[in-house]
Amino acid sequence: MSIFNKHKIIETNATLLLVCSLLVVTVGGIVEIAPLFYLENTIEKVKGMRPYTPLELKGRDLYMREGCYTCHSQMIRPMRDEVERYGHYSLAVESIYDHPFQWGSKRTGPDLARVGARYSDEWHVDHLVDPRAVVPESIMPKYGFMLDRKINSDGIEALVKTHRAVGVPYSDEMIENAALDFDAQADPDSDYDGLQERYGKAQVRNFDGQKALTEMDALIAYLQMLGTLVDFSTFEPDASR
Ligand code: HEC
Repeated sequence: MSIFNKHKIIETNATLLLVCSLLVVTVGGIVEIAPLFYLENTIEKVKGMRPYTPLELKGRDLYMREGCYTCHSQMIRPMRDEVERYGHYSLAVESIYDHPFQWGSKRTGPDLARVGARYSDEWHVDHLVDPRAVVPESIMPKYGFMLDRKINSDGIEALVKTHRAVGVPYSDEMIENAALDFDAQADPDSDYDGLQERYGKAQVRNFDGQKALTEMDALIAYLQMLGTLVDFSTFEPDASR
């Protein structure tokens, strides 16, 4: 009896075939899943990552409110055309403080994962007020109304606390000073040492060029920091994983 005939025994016995199939799937599953429990962390730690400042967090909320994610992704894939166009491919750790993440599933407009520091604040204001004034063929909607909508620190402490509740490591000090830091970031004349101390290299300036603190300030503060936290001139992927 050759080995091929023996196989016939399994193929003609439904129960035996089912048991053997389950066995094979179980072994395959264990081989794939078990190692994950022994890795300390599947997301590698990288220098430079920090939680969003209160103003950036507000800007991120506005980004979601306006549905920017329906046209813009924030995930650069490790493929040559993407890396040449947008910069270093996105690392998992760069989304670690994003609740919910903004990877997106559609690119009607370009990926924004590394748009920070690529344009001036003035460019962003002009572009958001009237995209076609800057890029004639653009189909992006206008968001000029955000220049007129004033914001203040009401509710910002609760917003920061909410993010801590879902795992972002905001310290007690960051939460206590959330309102202060919120106002300080868009006011270069304020005392923003505390903000810098708590968040490292937060960008402090008047983002929309107007005296009043508006939604535009928060949105641009958020856009200008996207993808800027990890220094890719010194970053080396950890090859041991
Ligand atoms: C209907 C789709 C759509 C929506 C919604 C949309 N955009 Fe865009 N966006 C585009 C397109 C298309 C472009 C490319 C042309 C241009 O620069 O205007 C673009 C370009 C951009 C750019 C320049 C990117 C680069 O690398 O040149 C930024 C920044 C931007 N959008 C931000 C936003 C923000 C912030 C929002 C939400 C307030 C938003 N977009 C909503 C379609 C959209």
